[in-house]
This record gives sequence, C-alpha cells and structure tokens, in this order.
Amino acid sequence: YRRLRVALLGAGAVGSQVADLLLRHGDELADRAGASLELAGIAVRDVDAPRDVDLPRELFTTDAESLILGSDIVIELMGGIEPARTSILQAIGSGADVVTANKALLATHGPELFEAADRVGASVHYEAAAAGAIPIIRPLRDSLAGDRIVRIMGIVNGTTNYILDRMDTEGADFADVLADAQRLGYAEADPTADVEGYDAAQKAAILASLAFHTAVPLDAVYREGITTVTASMIEEARAAGFVIKLLAVCERLDVDGTESISVRVYPALVPHSHPLASVHGANNAVFVEAEAAGSLMFYGAGAGGVQTASAVLGDVVSAARRHIAGGVGVGESTRANLPVVPIGHVTTRY
Ligand code: HSE
Repeated sequence: YRRLRVALLGAGAVGSQVADLLLRHGDELADRAGASLELAGIAVRDVDAPRDVDLPRELFTTDAESLILGSDIVIELMGGIEPARTSILQAIGSGADVVTANKALLATHGPELFEAADRVGASVHYEAAAAGAIPIIRPLRDSLAGDRIVRIMGIVNGTTNYILDRMDTEGADFADVLADAQRLGYAEADPTADVEGYDAAQKAAILASLAFHTAVPLDAVYREGITTVTASMIEEARAAGFVIKLLAVCERLDVDGTESISVRVYPALVPHSHPLASVHGANNAVFVEAEAAGSLMFYGAGAGGVQTASAVLGDVVSAARRHIAGGVGVGESTRANLPVVPIGHVTTRY
C-alpha cells in the first residue's frame, strides 16, 4: 500500500480516542482505504496534559505547523475558531485533505474553507461535526442529493437532551445533571454553548446548508436554549402528553410565493407519539422529511469521545480513498472477504 501520513491536531475527548483507534486498527483501516495510514504526530498545546487514553509520548509535539506541512491528511480536533482555521488553511494550502469535527468553525467559516479546498482540489470531511457518531452529513450531501428535503427536525445536542431527559424521568435538578453531563464528557469546554443552544445552532446551520444547498450563516439561525425550562413546565407538558426537547428545525417555506428556508433552535413540545420523544440520554436523532423518500430517522450517540471518533475515522478512510485516487471518489472495498452465512426464515428474538 501507498503510505499516507496523518496528522492529528488536538488530543481531547475525541482526539485521544481517534489516535488510539488509528493505532489499534491501522491494518484493517488500511485494507478499507487502500492506503496505509501512518499517524505522523499529534499536535497539542501541552504535551504533559492528562489524556483519556495512554498514547506513545513520542507522537506528541507542540509544533503543529511542521506536522501539517509534512502530512497527506490532517485531522483537526482542537475546536474553536483559531488556531483551527489557520491550521486547516495551511493543510489545504499544502495539498492535504482535511477531516474536522469543528462545528463552530464550519458554521462561521465553512464557505471560506470549502472555497480554499476547491481551488486546490483538496477535500474537507466533517461527518463528526453534527450529531456525533450518527451518519448524517453524507446522507444529506450524497444519498439524498437526488431528492428535495422539506424539513429536518433534530435533537442535535447530547448535553441538553441528557439534562431534559433526567429532569423529565427522575425530576432531577438542572445544575446536578449538567455537572454529570460534564463529567461524562458530553458537554463543551464551556457548557454555555450547550445549554444556551449555541452548539445546536451551529449544527443546524451545517445541516440546513447541506439539506437546502444554501449557505446558511450562523446569525440567520434563531436560537433559544433550555435555561428557562423549569421542572413545572416539564411536568405540565408531560400531563398534556408532550415532552420538552431542544429541537433544531430546518424547513423549506413558501413566504408570499417565494421559496425560503427557516432554521431555528428552541425547546419544543414533542408529542409522546413522535419518534423524537423516545430519544433518551445523550442520544441524538435527526428526523428528515423529503419529497420522494418520505420520513427518515437517523438515531444514535450524539456526543462522547469514542462514539464521535467513529465518525472521524470514517472520514479519514474517505479522505484516504480520495487522496490516492487523485481527487476522484473510489468505490467501497470488499477486501475483508468475510464468509456470508445463509440465513433463511429464522425468527430472531432481540
Ligand atoms: N457538547 C456536544 C453535545 C458534543 O452535547 O452534543 C457533541 O457535539
């Protein structure tokens, strides 16, 4: 296999798991990618900071720029606008393909990054930027590219869903459950981003841009968080047959004969009969309504280090396939060659 050098920027909750999985499953990923993926280094601010996973010390560096310039694929998991933006532009400028989970950056500077990548034929992959482990970026961009999406209703923030769910099911106190969400690694470094709906608004902007093929600037997204939701509101909602969920709604509207879109994040009343009402804990779900396909629901872990690392590594494989094909997409690999077990009419009990 051709060797591709992979640079990792950031070793927090997601980054440290990405490095660990890449080191442990490298051979299998190489078979799928058609290229060997060599973790060339991990750029961090503080080499000695405690990490979630034990990683070889010699991989760490504080010199992000040198690492980026010698790499074929750059994985940016630092978060925040700077230095992430500059690092990604450096990577693109040096001919690398980029994988990022940086929703704040994509929601504010997405067009700048995509244009820079287009100019040099590089690619930017960001499946992990919305709804953690759930595949939603590719379905919106690729699988549904032939359809017309009418509406998306998403629970796209794990922290707030975890908080609202425990307030609803256990009558738990807001501050206590927020502290648990932080301890479990769901919340952002500054949890204001979660509870005030900023994180969900960034994801809504990203999803709406893809769904409607329109650049949706973050400041066009209406946003309300969950800090005003009280225990008694939750109780009243329950008695009336509803659950309160922080929803990201992206929809196509006809405004006086002009086709428009609306993107908004707010605590909404969801009837108990709707599938989104059964999304518990830090899970996320994205309910998509498309003209031809009808209703689809994408469900799973919306936050958490190792879960989100799954989406990042999927992007690394995509980036590697694209890199070795010189910018043209390649088909799926069947190299694992696993035996196919014949299953007829068997009743499986789950
Ligand atoms: N803080 C985010 C959440 C992490 O709770 O959903 C995943 O983006």
